[in-house]
Amino acid sequence: MNARHQDIAVMKKLASLREPLSPDGVPASILVVDDSPAKLKAVMAIISRMGLAVTAASSGREALRLLLKQDFAVILLDVKMPEMDGFETATLIHGRPRSAYTPIIFITAEASSDSERFLGYTMGAVDYIFSPIVPEVLCAKVRVFVDLFYLQRKLILQSDELRESKQMLQQLASHQELIKEEERKRIAREIHDELGQNLLALRIDASMLHARTGLMHPKLNEKAQYALNQIDATIKSVRGIINNLRPPVLDLGLQAAIEWQIQEFRRRSGIECRIMVDDEGYDRDIDDTRATALFRILQESLTNVLRHAQASMVEVELSRDGPLLRMRIADNGIGMQHNIRQRTKSFGLHGIGERVRMLNGELAITSRPGHGTTLTISISV
Ligand SMILES: Nc1ncnc2c1ncn2[C@@H]1O[C@H](COP(=O)(O)OP(=O)(O)OP(=O)(O)O)[C@@H](O)[C@H]1O
Ligand SMILES: [Mg+2]
Repeated sequence: MNARHQDIAVMKKLASLREPLSPDGVPASILVVDDSPAKLKAVMAIISRMGLAVTAASSGREALRLLLKQDFAVILLDVKMPEMDGFETATLIHGRPRSAYTPIIFITAEASSDSERFLGYTMGAVDYIFSPIVPEVLCAKVRVFVDLFYLQRKLILQSDELRESKQMLQQLASHQELIKEEERKRIAREIHDELGQNLLALRIDASMLHARTGLMHPKLNEKAQYALNQIDATIKSVRGIINNLRPPVLDLGLQAAIEWQIQEFRRRSGIECRIMVDDEGYDRDIDDTRATALFRILQESLTNVLRHAQASMVEVELSRDGPLLRMRIADNGIGMQHNIRQRTKSFGLHGIGERVRMLNGELAITSRPGHGTTLTISISV
């Protein structure tokens, strides 16, 4: 058996393996270009049997016209054609951006002279097949390119799916964030109205008991004092819980809420914190969703300063330019380590980014080791 026959035997085996499987059920399109109607018909019959869609062109020009309208997985191109031969056609096909990488299989009768020229093709995938055509060889060669084409299509479909599911996840996250804030608000109100009011009533009774027992019932008086202290401690912790859930000061507007938070931060951390406002009415027309988001972003940023920055000072600057509200939080700490933001187990900065994205705003983080960190958030009101 000579080399060519061995080749054919391998190809026959390959061809009998399976048909290429389209990932979306749409068969790949193959373009067959040949000036001989009989050869065209024979090649088309072989390709159709592979479950592929075939389009015929009887000249290079017709092929170029078809390629303007449609993309093909593979082009089978006869080398010897009048007017424009296969090589000329291939050069023009690969010269166009749309078909620059479409694989071409040349069909040639003159193996020795033509095979030299195939080597000159560096752009796009190129292969060749000798006529008279052995169907199994043709199938095996086409299959290689169709498999690649399907693989590429599968990747595109998968990346579309990934993009869609990422979008869904983002929408879900913002929806959950809204629900969470609503829920916090409701629980905070309920605690305030139910528990808070009852505690207050209890305190009035206990305080009356304390006042009336006085010298006459010192033991009872002592108990009443103890109950009063207990009630006061409970009122304090209830207030703390309400503030953690959703500070009622948010109902007084963003400015009040920010000032309250900065005061709390100073008290808790001992770090100097300045607030700079260029326009007292910077929070005009701001809705509750935006105000809450900015409040939470400031909360997370100040927590980060306290936990990571080793800063001695933080500046919180608020400014308004038409519908654009800007909040800048700058510390004079140690700055972020390089690439630290990619850390998978840290969610604070990701959460800030998500909140800003939900409001179609912009977030810029600048930081250099030793030179502090600045977060700038811009949202339109
Ligand atoms: N102001 C800052 N100064 C210095 N480093 C910071 C500052 N803010 C954030 N970082 C660095 O960026 C990292 C990521 O911050 P991020 O808020 O996302 O996560 P975290 O604070 O570590 O954890 P959590 O998910 O509880 O917020 C931090 O671990 C810290 O190393
Ligand atoms: Mg954090």
